[in-house]
Amino acid sequence: MKKKVLKDIDCEGKKVLVRVDFNVPLDGGEVTDINRLEAAEPTIRYLMDNDAKVILMSHLGRPGGEVVEELRMDPVASELADLLGEEVTKIDDCIGEEVGLAVSEMAPGEVLLLENTRFYPGEKANDPDFAGKLAQPADIFVMDAFGAAHRAHASTVGVARYLPSVAGFLLQRELNALGEVMENPEHPFLAIMGGAKVSDKLEVIRNLYNKIDYLIVGGGIANTFIAAQGYEIGESLAERDKLDLARELVAEAKNQNVELILPEDVVVADRFAADAESRTVPIDSIPEDWQVLDADGPRSLKKYKEIIKQMKTIIWNGPMGVFEFDKFAVGTNEIAKAVAESEAHSVIGGGESASAVRKAGYARQMDHISTGGGATLTFFEGKSLPAVEALDNV
Ligand code: 3PG
Repeated sequence: MKKKVLKDIDCEGKKVLVRVDFNVPLDGGEVTDINRLEAAEPTIRYLMDNDAKVILMSHLGRPGGEVVEELRMDPVASELADLLGEEVTKIDDCIGEEVGLAVSEMAPGEVLLLENTRFYPGEKANDPDFAGKLAQPADIFVMDAFGAAHRAHASTVGVARYLPSVAGFLLQRELNALGEVMENPEHPFLAIMGGAKVSDKLEVIRNLYNKIDYLIVGGGIANTFIAAQGYEIGESLAERDKLDLARELVAEAKNQNVELILPEDVVVADRFAADAESRTVPIDSIPEDWQVLDADGPRSLKKYKEIIKQMKTIIWNGPMGVFEFDKFAVGTNEIAKAVAESEAHSVIGGGESASAVRKAGYARQMDHISTGGGATLTFFEGKSLPAVEALDNV
């Protein structure tokens, strides 16, 4: 990496401002998934062990530039304290006097968590004045929020203008894992793309066509491709105004020698519900008022598994169906199992794909599960991440 990293600097006794991505799911004021906390632990632990004063900041949710009580960082602080087995001081602001005072009282090795940076409009606007205030109490900036590295905000990009700025261990690990697969993949190379919308994945698919040998399409995206082939898709989630785009992607795949694989059969439901009535049908027999909730019927799965077995590299982004409903999680789970059991180097995008793989119980067998949803997609689009660009060069 051409950017400075944590190991390049001396942090002993320094006040180190760390941007983490603690944008975690909450339910009734409780954190329901601590993966992002665990992923940030190596950087935090290293700084603590090296007697730095560790000042953590993150956004949480989308409060729109004002204080939203339910989006305070307090539940995150208590989960983090449990994880570290150390006290974590949480304060109710991220800039100003309260922060200055709390930092001045810190002993080396202690951890302070600031309030949600998105409570200020200056965060998303990347306001230089706000960024200066965030940077004010610190000596060094460590960017470790891979999940937010595609956002050019004050806490991800702006602060780097005021402080020596380096990448933390998580950011480094993510960039290495994703960079390796994009720059140096072993072939045959398969991408599995699911999720809701073709339009969200358009740039990713186009960029991947230069690198991959196979593309399996699932989830809501598959419905748009099925409709583009002229089949009835009933009430299924699809982008009916993007059929031309799907046809273009089919043609481009051919031109670039990529084998594009669509489902042959799907699982349909009479309504969008966990206990909906369901059936497996070939793609030319989707009933008019039913909807596809799992894009992989048994025939499709058999074919996918055979392909997966032969691959050397696999990237997967987006679930194959409504995996939150057990009845419609079969396709996603079976793909997760096949990828986990394959010899291929496997990289899973963050967000829903990561949750699906964890829910299916195959997380440990994957080579890399990203902590970033949008950030991974931006990376797979071949674009640079503004928060990485902002760091000091070696
Ligand atoms: C994420 O969860 O993908 C990141 O934390 C970014 O969140 P955002 O999409 O609200 O910027």
